[in-house]
Amino acid sequence: MNKRGEFSSSIGFIMAAAGSAIGLGNIWGFPSQTAKNGGAAFVLVYLILAFIIAYPALMAELIIGRHANSNPVGAFQKIKGGKFFIPAGYLGLLVAGLILSFYAIVAGWMIAYIFEPVFSSLGMEALASWSKSNEISRNLIFTTIFYVLTILIISGGVQKGIEKWSTRLMPALLLIIVSLSIYVMTLDGATEGLRAYLLPDFTRVFEPALLVSAMGQAFFSLSLGVGTMLVYGSYISPKENLSRLGIYVTLADVFIAFLAGLMIIPAIYVAAANGAEIFDEAGNLIEGGTIVFQAIPQLFTSMGIMGMPLSIIFFLLMSIAALTSSISMLEVPVSFAVDNLDKNRNIATWVIGAGFWLISVIIILNFDRLFDFIIDFTTKFSQPLLGLIFCIFIGWVMNRNEILKELEKGFPDARYSMFFKIWRFFVKVITPLLILGVFIHSLV
Ligand code: PHE
Repeated sequence: MNKRGEFSSSIGFIMAAAGSAIGLGNIWGFPSQTAKNGGAAFVLVYLILAFIIAYPALMAELIIGRHANSNPVGAFQKIKGGKFFIPAGYLGLLVAGLILSFYAIVAGWMIAYIFEPVFSSLGMEALASWSKSNEISRNLIFTTIFYVLTILIISGGVQKGIEKWSTRLMPALLLIIVSLSIYVMTLDGATEGLRAYLLPDFTRVFEPALLVSAMGQAFFSLSLGVGTMLVYGSYISPKENLSRLGIYVTLADVFIAFLAGLMIIPAIYVAAANGAEIFDEAGNLIEGGTIVFQAIPQLFTSMGIMGMPLSIIFFLLMSIAALTSSISMLEVPVSFAVDNLDKNRNIATWVIGAGFWLISVIIILNFDRLFDFIIDFTTKFSQPLLGLIFCIFIGWVMNRNEILKELEKGFPDARYSMFFKIWRFFVKVITPLLILGVFIHSLV
């Protein structure tokens, strides 16, 4: 049997889990969804859902993962009462891979934008405009580069791979986002963007589309409902206090998303003040996905000579943030192959990685038909659904004493703590009802 890895310290885990959580979901997904769903109303709902739905669900995954010391399928096989839940574990493996298959495409765009200014400063104009075009060849090449990087890191294993990358690069990313959001405030049009970002139109708060998107975004951003956090939980040392680790990760993720919005939403309005078309005929901000890729490069152009190096650094850090997330997706099916099928980690990583790369290629070749469809299917539907299943499992099936014993390992007073009482009530009743409520609300 292959030995399972373990994070060397709580900082190692926080960095790795935050590295998984923080990624394109924060810097591309969250601002695009905010733009698409009416600005501040979306931000408000998102923040609330992150704490009342996502945090309890995150705790469920961490506890199940560390308790079973396994992947989602293995966990349901090992824990008493889990037999009926095993298919959900397999769904997690699949959805983790499907997320990777669209994520790698967007990450490929980030890599392309690292090269674009380089090509252009070398006078290679054709290559530069190819890097920011939407051509199939461009998407295929950069997506493939991203897969190879992901696979190389994951084949290295827990400590060497995941931790090392995450610990070094997250602080740098934070620094650049903060600096850019301060810079953007000095530009014309930013105040209007700030208003759109921070002053909610309360009449929109209960719109079904907004609620479904905000819930999907919360699950996506915290890497929930695919088994990523469950697997990462299985690598946490028994000494650690899970409830505290969970709250750190949630806070870090929400904070970075909020900051990213603070930089990107005003940047979109600055672009508008400079003549870019950002509204459609109905007066809504144009379709989210591409708007971020228009606003950010414009921001760098406005900086003059400093723009180019900063742009390279920014997109480099974004690509790395995407990598610390993509490795956590690929890790889910790989850990299954290693734990349950006793496969060699290196071979399993290449084979599984190649399989999902093929799906990415299919998406690239049928972009208009598949890209948004896969995103909606995974983030708005599958992730909340599996999140719901984890909550039901830990709330209603798993033995209360087993849960407590797991928590008490790093948190001796867990049994009598407020955390346990509140969390348990949420994960049993409130969170499942809210998830179901949003689903039903969106159907009627
Ligand atoms: N949370 C990651 C992000 O925000 C995406 C992710 C989803 C990672 C699911 C792992 C699993 O970019």
